Amino acid sequence: SAGALWGGRFSDGPSPELTRLSKSTHFDWQLGPYDIAGSKAHARALSVAGYLDADELQRMLDALDELLEAFLDGSFAPLESDEDVHFALERGLIAIAGPELGGKLRAGRSRNDQIATLVRLYLLEHATAIGHLLLQLIDAIGAQANEHENSPMPGRTHLQHAQPVLLAHHLLAHAWPLVRDLERLRDWRVRASASPYGAGALAGGALGLDPVAIATELGLGAPTENSIDATASRDVVAEFAYITAQIGIDISRFAEDIILWATREFDFVRLHDGYSTGSSIMPQKKNPDIAELARGKAGRLVGNLTGLLTTLKGLPLAYNRDLQEDKEPVFDSVETLEVLLPAFTGMVATLRFNTERMAELAPQGFSLATDVADWLVRRHVPFREAHEISGALVRFCEENDLELHEPSDEQYAAVSPHLTGEVRAALTVEASLASRSGVGGTAPARVAEQLALLTARVREL
Ligand code: ARG
Repeated sequence: SAGALWGGRFSDGPSPELTRLSKSTHFDWQLGPYDIAGSKAHARALSVAGYLDADELQRMLDALDELLEAFLDGSFAPLESDEDVHFALERGLIAIAGPELGGKLRAGRSRNDQIATLVRLYLLEHATAIGHLLLQLIDAIGAQANEHENSPMPGRTHLQHAQPVLLAHHLLAHAWPLVRDLERLRDWRVRASASPYGAGALAGGALGLDPVAIATELGLGAPTENSIDATASRDVVAEFAYITAQIGIDISRFAEDIILWATREFDFVRLHDGYSTGSSIMPQKKNPDIAELARGKAGRLVGNLTGLLTTLKGLPLAYNRDLQEDKEPVFDSVETLEVLLPAFTGMVATLRFNTERMAELAPQGFSLATDVADWLVRRHVPFREAHEISGALVRFCEENDLELHEPSDEQYAAVSPHLTGEVRAALTVEASLASRSGVGGTAPARVAEQLALLTARVREL
């Protein structure tokens, strides 16, 4: 019965309908090891405060170790009557240590300060794992960039040819957001490391247990400043969900590039067989499913965030059972990224780029028109006029089926007296790339610096 945790004032046990609705063991079971770690720290605090003698403490710690072992080997499993993981673990402790000793552990703590602490411990550990997976993806992008440091491609805005850029530059543009995501995880850790243990149900502890000792043993930082906030807030959980959603979004934008590049029309990239799929009916098909799943999972990650935020909106202080709904969304976000990131990294690492085709298309669509204008500005033509002249040249070339460097000297002069044959030297992809040497620009020297910067920045994290 529910007696173990809260049966005292009830004359009837819970209805089966309530039990079915209320149960959370199917998802909070994975918090078990964190719960037991918290219990060991709590037992030590109880003993320091004089509520357990040395012998009782030792027997309590031994019983908790035995319980952890049984939990990990699966011999300790949830029962139909267990409301949640905390409930089940108290049952397990009492079975090992007896009701006398086992019944002492709960003094001075509540499931409310426990769960607020345990979810942080879970997220901190998985944030580390996700951070490592992100690093591997950034490394894979960096390796591809390193291999394509001198490969030009059409740079686009509005998906239209805009100006030539280096493939390495474009690839690195997908790496930097992931570096910021890593930095977000690092910044988040500071807030996530505050320790709610000791806040009790909402009003704080009454037994003089040392919350600093518990926090330290759990690897957390200072205790939370306000016991109501400690048990009622989940912004730290929502912030984690946001970071995972942002990672999903950043990856989905790269995924969309890859999907587009792998089409016959683009033909910029080939996927490795091991990281693409076939069709059950069309024998010729090779599909970018990993990229598509990345794009799809981004929606799921955003959904987890918005679901959680919606749960929190307007919730009165302090603890409400609604808060039990915080766990499944972030557990799902963690599991989603821990499966998605390695597959995505494998796909990126094995991409084969059709650099010849990318280079051939780089100057097409009059993508060097800005270089005409820049060339005129360097000759002190006001940019407004230079833009006009370059536009007129584009129109002339389009009408006469010429590229920008192909008109004769006379034809240039007819477009504008400022235009001479010397402009042709500026109208190569190489010259265009080299000229964009401003900070963060696509000039080969700048891109090489950028790659070195990325490597150094990532090493700091
Ligand atoms: N299973 C609960 C949760 O996840 C633990 C806290 C329960 N507290 C309570 N007062 N019922 O939020």
